[in-house]
Amino acid sequence: MLRLFKKYIKGARIVSVLAPLAMAVEVLADIAQPALMSDIIDVGVVNGDISYIVSKGKVMVLYALAGLAGGYLCSVFSAIGGSRFGANVRRALFNKITTLSYREIDNLTTSSLITRMTNDVTQTQQMVMTGLRGIRAPFLCIGGLVASYLLSPRLALIFLVAVPLLAIAVAVIIVKALPLFAQTQGRLDRVNTVMRENLLGVKVVKAFTGEERENKRFFISNLELKDWSLKSSYLTILLNPVSTFVMNMSIIALYWFGGNMAAHGQIESGKIMAMLTYMTLALMSLMQLMMMLTTLSRALVSAKRINAVMDTEPRIKEAASPELPADSSISFENVSFRYNDTDPEFVLKDVCFTAKSGETVGVIGTTGSGKSTLVSLIPRLYEVTKGQVKIGGTDVRKIPRKFLSQFVGMTLQENVLFAGTIRENLRWGNETCDFSEIERSASDAQATEFILSAENGYDSQVEQRGKNFSGGQKQRLCIARTLARGAKILIFDDSTSALDTETDRKIQKALSKLSDTTVFIIAQRISSIMHSDKIIVMDEGKIESMGKHEELIKNSRIYRQIAVSQLGEAALT
Ligand SMILES: Nc1ncnc2c1ncn2[C@@H]1O[C@H](COP(=O)(O)OP(=O)(O)OP(=O)(O)O)[C@@H](O)[C@H]1O
Ligand SMILES: [Mg+2]
Repeated sequence: MLRLFKKYIKGARIVSVLAPLAMAVEVLADIAQPALMSDIIDVGVVNGDISYIVSKGKVMVLYALAGLAGGYLCSVFSAIGGSRFGANVRRALFNKITTLSYREIDNLTTSSLITRMTNDVTQTQQMVMTGLRGIRAPFLCIGGLVASYLLSPRLALIFLVAVPLLAIAVAVIIVKALPLFAQTQGRLDRVNTVMRENLLGVKVVKAFTGEERENKRFFISNLELKDWSLKSSYLTILLNPVSTFVMNMSIIALYWFGGNMAAHGQIESGKIMAMLTYMTLALMSLMQLMMMLTTLSRALVSAKRINAVMDTEPRIKEAASPELPADSSISFENVSFRYNDTDPEFVLKDVCFTAKSGETVGVIGTTGSGKSTLVSLIPRLYEVTKGQVKIGGTDVRKIPRKFLSQFVGMTLQENVLFAGTIRENLRWGNETCDFSEIERSASDAQATEFILSAENGYDSQVEQRGKNFSGGQKQRLCIARTLARGAKILIFDDSTSALDTETDRKIQKALSKLSDTTVFIIAQRISSIMHSDKIIVMDEGKIESMGKHEELIKNSRIYRQIAVSQLGEAALT
């Protein structure tokens, strides 16, 4: 927490100093009041000196006003400090997440990252705010102790019992509550997972009338969250009655011993009144301090979760001595890959192939055979486990990441568009391209017709995730976006699955005109890839066979099966 505080309070340093200063004014004013009161009683009231009472009364009003100003300013400063801190942490966390590779995001999970960005940051922000304001508590506590010691060292001995008693109780409660707080945040992650899945997949849920099952799933994770937060609350709730009990016992002790002393003329009654105020002040602020400790322990758990993200080292790093590829040829040399180091099976097993610059490579195979995985290694979305992936003779790990991402354009199997205009979406991969390039990309992707028929043409709004477009329209916009990138290697992962054969063929034709651009097309449909220079047939993570359509019809069992099932027996002749 301290590490986060030091690093992210920047931009709010001044207020974080001013807040305790303003608080010191309030505390001094609070502590001075009971002493003045005691004077009014013991001197003014006892001697019937009205002018003394009035003059001391005026000073009390002044002190009260100073205290008010101090308290107000402290709250304002600490609110500013806390909010700036929160904003800084959120920004840093977001920046960090954007540097993480697919693998780290897979491991941390999107939902947990969302909880960390929101709830966990709020917890630490709360702590900074409470902390800046809460400096009042130790000041008041120590001030109250000192002031009562000055009034009567003997009566102040009561604290000697009360303070350790409170401290022990709180320590026990907090030590027990810490692991519960960690569990609670974990359950919050789960609630967010279910919620996120349902909100994103709401159509699937409805299509399968899965509402009831999903409600049950949410009910269970929500119930668990409730149970765990209740468990930690039961503990922290104990703080209040325990401290009130200690305080009441101390007040009884004060009356008991103080009364005895007064009866023997050892202390004035005004002093006992002042003592009572100091004691309440000191113990109340001690209680506040304890409450702050629970906020702190909650924040500690959150700070740990935030730091875990900040400390995650992206596996995919920039090479020390970068090299650029000579051309857009690609070679896989004995590539094996698995998503997790602990997985027993490799998803890709010893894959070898080469593709020359400008070639079109088709990839086909059963689902789950590793097609998407294979192509994701080219732009280094994941890092190979064994072997090498080379572009233009250079290992992709040596190519600067920015260059690589501009050199390789990819349409992912999952179409994601962003809220904004069509123009903004198409320009997304290449901010600098001019409008004629966008138009050409849209035309190659066979998207011009429906874009122009939309009310505002290229300035029509794309809603969140592109939900106001049909599956095929979305696919064509994604293809156009990739084309607009002007990359030398283009990868289309199942990008035309929602298109009719005729449109698909037109896109193939446009792609084949791109000279010296290496194109990878993954497809389920044989017609999408049969004219490729090279076709790779994948099966269970291995290349089953490779070659041109006619060769594969002869040599590949799987290819032949797919061809016959889609084109009929005629395909064999
Ligand atoms: N992010 C991931 N984490 C762990 N395993 C994964 C991940 N993505 C894919 N896999 C696994 O890797 C294997 C290959 O998946 P891949 O997506 O490459 O198949 P595919 O050939 O593209 O299938 P499809 O034709 O259905 O798109 C599958 O068994 C899948 O379960
Ligand atoms: Mg796939």
